[in-house]
Amino acid sequence: MRAVSANLLALLLFCTCACVFYVWNSLEVSRLERYTRGLQSASWGTLHPGPPSDLPVKTFRALLTVPAAQRLHFGDGRQYVHNLTGVRDQTGSLGSRDYHINVDNKESAQKGVPESNFVSLVEEGIFWSEWLEDRLPVSFSEKHARAWRERARGQRIVKLEPGCGRISNQLATFLDGTKACVRYGINADQVQGETLTYYLAGLLGITNIPPLILSQLNVDSEQWDYVRRKIFSLQWSERAVVSLTEWVANLTGVVTPEPLRQKSKGLLPLPGELRNQTTEELVELMQWTDLIILDYLSANFDRLVSNLFSLQWDSRVMERETNNLLRTPRGNLVFIDNEAGLVHGFRVLDMWEKYHSTILGSVCVFRKRTAQRVIELHRRRDTRTRLLELYRDSEPLSPELGFFSDEHAGVLQTRIDRVYKHITHCKGMYHQL
Ligand SMILES: Nc1ncnc2c1ncn2[C@@H]1O[C@H](COP(=O)(O)OP(=O)(O)OP(=O)(O)O)[C@@H](O)[C@H]1O
Ligand SMILES: *[C@@H]1O[C@H](CO)[C@@H](O)[C@H](O)[C@H]1NC(C)=O
Ligand SMILES: *[C@@H]1O[C@H](CO)[C@@H](O)[C@H](O)[C@H]1NC(C)=O
Ligand SMILES: *[C@@H]1O[C@H](CO)[C@@H](O)[C@H](O)[C@H]1NC(C)=O
Ligand SMILES: [Mg+2]
Repeated sequence: MRAVSANLLALLLFCTCACVFYVWNSLEVSRLERYTRGLQSASWGTLHPGPPSDLPVKTFRALLTVPAAQRLHFGDGRQYVHNLTGVRDQTGSLGSRDYHINVDNKESAQKGVPESNFVSLVEEGIFWSEWLEDRLPVSFSEKHARAWRERARGQRIVKLEPGCGRISNQLATFLDGTKACVRYGINADQVQGETLTYYLAGLLGITNIPPLILSQLNVDSEQWDYVRRKIFSLQWSERAVVSLTEWVANLTGVVTPEPLRQKSKGLLPLPGELRNQTTEELVELMQWTDLIILDYLSANFDRLVSNLFSLQWDSRVMERETNNLLRTPRGNLVFIDNEAGLVHGFRVLDMWEKYHSTILGSVCVFRKRTAQRVIELHRRRDTRTRLLELYRDSEPLSPELGFFSDEHAGVLQTRIDRVYKHITHCKGMYHQL
């Protein structure tokens, strides 16, 4: 008898360990295993790439070879591009030829490109121009998000099926036929990361994350009762708080653009760098600069940073589609799966920070509004308060899910301050151009 209970005890202990290991495993390992083979240090610049290194020298030289009158165009820190929407400038290189075409009326006229067709790409040295901003279709406007969230809240779900990634993410169909991705976190951190990143994006005016609401599982509620059997079979626990995000049709994968790959000089506000991009490419790059700020702030390693890390053993990883990033047919980037942000990402900062800062340091062009919000949050030092207010006012289930710790709030404020410093650094570097 005693032997039996001892055995039972041992079995129990083993089961407990196995459970703990399983949870830990699914949390950490599933995410990290992709990156933890063969560690060597990647080498892609440092935080502040700039003129002292080899890169802009070439460009500065090109600038100097342009006669003074032609340089006038750049006097206010602007840059100009052909109005060849969607057509790559075949002249290609940095050479002064581009400048020449820009300002020489005779040659322009011969090419049928009137002077008025040159538009500015960058303003005040480091901001994407209004002209480009006007070409960015808003992904999920505030109005759209509000309407979706109101409709989704409490609406009956008639189907749960695969289609949103892992088994713990299910594609839900509402009674009205619209769809959402339901994310069931293995623990609350993941749902918190997903949710707070959504609100942080809101605070920054970044509209690339699909609208999100929380819901508490309750098979007796109108929202969930129709799919109760599915919920049982998924072994989702009652009362768990899950997130629902708008499902978007016809999304496709996105490969990291050339200027953001590790071999490039980074994304700098230099005419030679930007002018050979098509308008479409520029509009996408503009969204990437928001992505990079958001992922830096939230320490989300599960997109560009994980690629950079994987480069150590997979030299072609940048040529493949980026994790957790999709594109609509109209050219909007959609940032999905932000569960690594803010909570989990902050826990594992030691491992990832050097990659985070490398990527931030490779970008010196920003959306003006995003930069302004960062500057504001830096000056007022109230990121935690503003994020909490927005979250609490917008999400009725915020008390259920909770907020991140004060320690993590401090980490976020520090990261705001670092992005602010980086923007200031870029401004100092490129404003005079
Ligand atoms: N909001 C959405 N709209 C449309 N499709 C989506 C949406 N969210 C997720 N998907 C689809 O599900 C796939 C996986 O999504 P997600 O990254 O959220 O889950 P995951 O479990 O982390 O999967 P993976 O491990 O492949 O990254 C996406 O590539 C996309 O095809
Ligand atoms: C644009 O020019 C840069 C620098 O001259 C070059 O590295 C890059 O490959 C060009 N990009 C395209 C799309 O032609
Ligand atoms: C670019 O050209 C198109 C047609 O050629 C014109 O409709 C448009 O207004 C031009 N844009 C700018 C900014 O000049
Ligand atoms: C998605 O693509 C299909 C097939 O090309 C098309 O019929 C449908 O209208 C598209 N939906 C959206 C929302 O763009
Ligand atoms: Mg994912």
